[in-house]
Amino acid sequence: MKGIILAGGAGSRLYPLTMVASKQLQPVYDKPMVYYPFTTLLEGGIREICLISTPQDLPRFRQLLGDGSRFGATIDYREQASPAGIAQAFRIADTFIGTDAVSLILGDNIFWGGDTFQRAFAEFTTGATVFGYHVLDPERYGVVEFDAAGKAVSIEEKPKQPRSNYAVPGLYIYDNEIVQIARDLKPSARGELEITDVNLEYLRRGTLRVFRLGRGFAWLDAGTSSSLHEASAYVQTVEKRQGIKVGCPEEAAFRRGFLTLGQLEQVITTIPNCEYRAYLEGVVAEARVN
Ligand code: G1P
Repeated sequence: MKGIILAGGAGSRLYPLTMVASKQLQPVYDKPMVYYPFTTLLEGGIREICLISTPQDLPRFRQLLGDGSRFGATIDYREQASPAGIAQAFRIADTFIGTDAVSLILGDNIFWGGDTFQRAFAEFTTGATVFGYHVLDPERYGVVEFDAAGKAVSIEEKPKQPRSNYAVPGLYIYDNEIVQIARDLKPSARGELEITDVNLEYLRRGTLRVFRLGRGFAWLDAGTSSSLHEASAYVQTVEKRQGIKVGCPEEAAFRRGFLTLGQLEQVITTIPNCEYRAYLEGVVAEARVN
């Protein structure tokens, strides 16, 4: 399965932070935001990645992540010249997707806890898999409604009167039908190619699965200054308490077998002396003992 990270948008809600660096490059505690969704893909076993961003921001992402080899991955960079909605990503990346299944993750979505995604990637065969997460403010998101048997019956984009508290987070898994579905999609009333319309098409075809993310699973949004601050505080709390890092792509690549111990050690030599390096040295030391 291939992976797309969509890191576009003007980041206007974070102005003036976003005047010189895009939203997905802002720090979430001790790392750039994009490290978190990137790590989610690596943890899920996805190492062929396409990163989509604006022409202005793309060089910075390249500077940050390079060709991906430091993380045992490949990264193909593509431009979203003018933002026309999340589903436009599949048009931009169609030659990257080729004949494979693909997972799209939004560059500002931070997930933590459990192995739901790893299992969903591993078990995926056809159709579409998306998730439902209980939130207080569903009207800000795509909202999924379930029937009494727990089956998804409707999905609406930012409804004024949400039919449930279940928001659809920014991680979507599709079979190769997505390429044609995205090609045929018509812009919505707000002029965007909506990811919710893609999900509705799979729902119409009877091939959409919606997994509810359980309690104990964290989905953080970092799109406003206050939620950005809260996400940082959350990551800091977990990291300080547990002594493990959230969103560390080098570690994820190593644990997934995308980097050997020797390769990880080589990568560490390129990192300046800092807490991040010390953490990775700890990962190596622990692996040597076990
Ligand atoms: C987008 C999608 C929405 C989804 C959300 C997840 O909204 O349109 O369906 O629930 O991402 O982060 P946006 O964040 O672009 O407003």
